[in-house]
Amino acid sequence: MCGIVGYKGKNNNAIKVVIEGLENLEYRGYDSAGIAYLKDNKIYIEKETGRIKNLKENLNLKEKTNLAIGHTRWATHGIPKKINAHPHQVGKFTIVHNGIIENYLSLKEELIKNNYTFKSDTDTEIACAYLDYIYKQEKDILKSLQKLIKIIKGSYAFGIICEDDKDNLYALRSSSPLIIALGKNENYIASDVPAILKYTNKYIILENYEIAKISNDNITIYNKELQEVNKTINTYEEKYESNTKGQYEHFMLKEINEEPDTFEKTINSCLQNNFKDINLKKYTNIHIVACGSAYHAGLVGKYLIEKFANIKVYTQVASEYRYEKTFYDKNTLVILISQSGETADTLAALRKAKDNKIDTLSIVNVFKSSIARESKYVVYTKAGSEIAVATTKAYLAQLTLLIALTLNLSKKTINKEQITKIKEQITNLIKKDDYKTIANKIYKAKNIFFIGRGIDYALCMEGSLKLKEISYINSVAYQAGELKHGTISLIEENTPVIAILTEEKLIEKTISNIKEVKARGAHTIVISNEEIKNDEYDEIIKIPKTDELLQQLLTIIPLQLIAYEVAKLKNCDIDKPRNLAKSVTVE
Ligand code: F6R
Repeated sequence: MCGIVGYKGKNNNAIKVVIEGLENLEYRGYDSAGIAYLKDNKIYIEKETGRIKNLKENLNLKEKTNLAIGHTRWATHGIPKKINAHPHQVGKFTIVHNGIIENYLSLKEELIKNNYTFKSDTDTEIACAYLDYIYKQEKDILKSLQKLIKIIKGSYAFGIICEDDKDNLYALRSSSPLIIALGKNENYIASDVPAILKYTNKYIILENYEIAKISNDNITIYNKELQEVNKTINTYEEKYESNTKGQYEHFMLKEINEEPDTFEKTINSCLQNNFKDINLKKYTNIHIVACGSAYHAGLVGKYLIEKFANIKVYTQVASEYRYEKTFYDKNTLVILISQSGETADTLAALRKAKDNKIDTLSIVNVFKSSIARESKYVVYTKAGSEIAVATTKAYLAQLTLLIALTLNLSKKTINKEQITKIKEQITNLIKKDDYKTIANKIYKAKNIFFIGRGIDYALCMEGSLKLKEISYINSVAYQAGELKHGTISLIEENTPVIAILTEEKLIEKTISNIKEVKARGAHTIVISNEEIKNDEYDEIIKIPKTDELLQQLLTIIPLQLIAYEVAKLKNCDIDKPRNLAKSVTVE
């Protein structure tokens, strides 16, 4: 949520590096963008609403500059407009910020009493002004930053330029992610390594309350006592790939097409490592905690683990889990699932478990992200970088990893032939063109329902989320048997109802529910691995039947592609849906 990039170096291409970096971070927020750069010893600021390409049009990327900070915004305080875009400048300081300053109103009152005035509605401008206010007393940048840490509350990653020291770029963080990357005669700051991976793969992770002072050829990190800290230099393992869509019209479609490989890489990596560092046998009580699609993957995991390993699993969304009363015992394992590894609520849930001395295992896609670093155990999904805001391949990788975990917790096994076959079946399902036909029949609907029972209901939750987030059609996932207890009143002539039927013992039950909605005019679309009589639905998508442990890897494909085709027919911005951001680093 919000992306930050900063550059300090001798190579004179600060604007280019920062803008390219922001383009790589645009998935973190895209309602406005801005840059501050040093030219002829003066700091210039350029901001624009909307996408980074709008900002880019106002800039000369070849301009010779050696210090710059940039920002792509996901609005928290203040609507998306130019004045609220970052960087913000007050007095001697210019800053970009990712996070939320919780006590900004009381700081604002104090600043107003001290004759500060404000142009924007943001908490960031207050933080910037407060830094300037402290600096007027301290007259020392590091001491001022140290004091700022003591005063401001909330989450933040800051990139900071000070008028009085144009030879250095400063940064500090608490909760929101920030890395410092090391180049040759140049150094960088960024919310995420891929932003600057074109230039370097060496980076330092800035921990909470650490301050970085960055010059062309030197990086010094201080703790909050202003003592120098020795930091590990990490190497980012993945290769730089320019984020292109290749032959595909959208990243989402490209990423769906990468799912067969994602499945294979993730399952093989799990089977090789086999959770060998974790004594899984000891856990008799599992909690699975996550947000959004990752939570939906967790719901599937619950069904699999309970059914095949006979272990009790409690699932909860992280924003609730972090505050609710939680029942732990000495054999509890808390599993956190997150693509980005930075989701604020999931991170807080992890910290709650740790505070209660409970073992934690994270299932994460981004290497060495905060959740990965703070968990007792971590297992990585192998989805590679995911650009489309709506997750597809990372979700499938999470399902795959939960299957591997179930194998380890139970007596179930799968063999090489099954892996090859599933990969082939996923590939064939992606190639089917039934989805466009279905999309054509439903894209004008105002409401769309997804119904299913058991594990199929967990998949309905994900199908419904995918559809609503990218097509803006209101959609609800319902347990098929629950509909008649109220919600069925919403079914009108032609309301689309998508029913998932893959669990053999529940199929007849769900068919009865389909008949109930059909009798009230619903247009019914069935996704099933069984033969269903053709008077029991209006449309059908047949999927192959496979081992129960693996079935959901096939069921999800039509759901993702129906959502995609509907959004395409509605001309929606599929890869960057309105109001969303990929990495949700605020509460
Ligand atoms: C939906 C989607 C979100 C994320 C959620 C958690 O397509 O992507 O619902 O699943 O924000 O994000 P991570 O997995 O990064 O913790």
